[in-house]
Amino acid sequence: MELSRRTVIAGAAAAGIAATAAGGTAHATGGRKPVKELFGKLADGTKVYRWSLENGGTRMKVLSYGGIVQSLEIPDRRGRYENVSLGFDNLDDYVASSPYMGALIGRYGNRIDKGRFTLDGKQYQISVNDGENTLHGGAQGFDKRVWDVEPFAEGSEVGLVMHYTSVDGEMGYPGTLKAKVTYTLTREGDWRIDYEATTDKATVVNLTSHVYWNLAGEGSGTIEDHELSIAASRYTPTDEGLIPTGELAKVAGTAFDFRRAKPVGRDIRAAHPQLITAKGFDHNWVLDKGITSRPEHIATLRDPSSGRTLRIATDQPGLQFYSGNFLDGTLTGTGGRTYRQGDALCLETQHFPDSPNQPSFPSTVLRPGQTYRTTTVHSFDA
Ligand code: BGC
Repeated sequence: MELSRRTVIAGAAAAGIAATAAGGTAHATGGRKPVKELFGKLADGTKVYRWSLENGGTRMKVLSYGGIVQSLEIPDRRGRYENVSLGFDNLDDYVASSPYMGALIGRYGNRIDKGRFTLDGKQYQISVNDGENTLHGGAQGFDKRVWDVEPFAEGSEVGLVMHYTSVDGEMGYPGTLKAKVTYTLTREGDWRIDYEATTDKATVVNLTSHVYWNLAGEGSGTIEDHELSIAASRYTPTDEGLIPTGELAKVAGTAFDFRRAKPVGRDIRAAHPQLITAKGFDHNWVLDKGITSRPEHIATLRDPSSGRTLRIATDQPGLQFYSGNFLDGTLTGTGGRTYRQGDALCLETQHFPDSPNQPSFPSTVLRPGQTYRTTTVHSFDA
């Protein structure tokens, strides 16, 4: 299946054409530099731009605000394009009430218990924004910052290089962190994210991307029939605040076993205390491969109705699978429809939540002189 789509798309791109939603043809923009337009202005007048890029049959729109993927279009098995990523059609909605839709997450993705940690004997209190805990960096995380964006088109790849400098003490974190995130669309239509960061003081870092996937199309309804597999024999159970207890629990014999593909909804109503607390899946899976020097395949998501398939490869040790539990019908998306519980899911490659307080988890400490580097690749197929 994968080969066939790749061959078709690569062939079409080489011939200077691409399939369109209507099934006809249009000139391919593969290899063309991303195009920029004004998207909106923040309250302080800062301009936010939207970049459009396309390669290998994948089309993306990205905002300079939060590095947000505003839309990501891929074809189904008949060549029909849909936007498979939830989002909004205007900047105000992103600023006012977005639950991190499509955004880059930092300085520390996921939760830190009570927003507190000790590093080299010094205690830090960071911004608390999720009950008594910190979620996704704090009140003004990397998702709410305007990034410097540089487009590129090199060889067969196109993309955006995005920079953000988080100053010493921002949200309470120590050290000025210089972050660089590159979005690349490859000639096969893969979306690769390369994250990099350096610091001038010891700090903690955990960067990720928060796309809400619905492979049948944003606003089309539930993802409970999407089939998901995750190459993980263990996950990290949490307390009521969704902070890991420290245990690496076995998935075998539980609703958390996604080692073989199964519909997301099959076991989501199991009377498992962890599912009740989180209102569905909202947990970190401990990837069997561990930390690797290169991205390795760890998860596959497939929508049987359209055939659209997403494969994720990463070098990271964990994957947060969040089944859109807190979407409650109060947000209206790009296509004009409201988003309800389970209308999308997130697959966030990462280090484990609360690692700064969990000595048994892989370390998230970054020191001066070191470079934080991680890569996640999203491959699409139908
Ligand atoms: C978290 C959820 C949270 C969501 C934000 C996810 O990464 O795991 O608990 O509600 O982000 O909308």
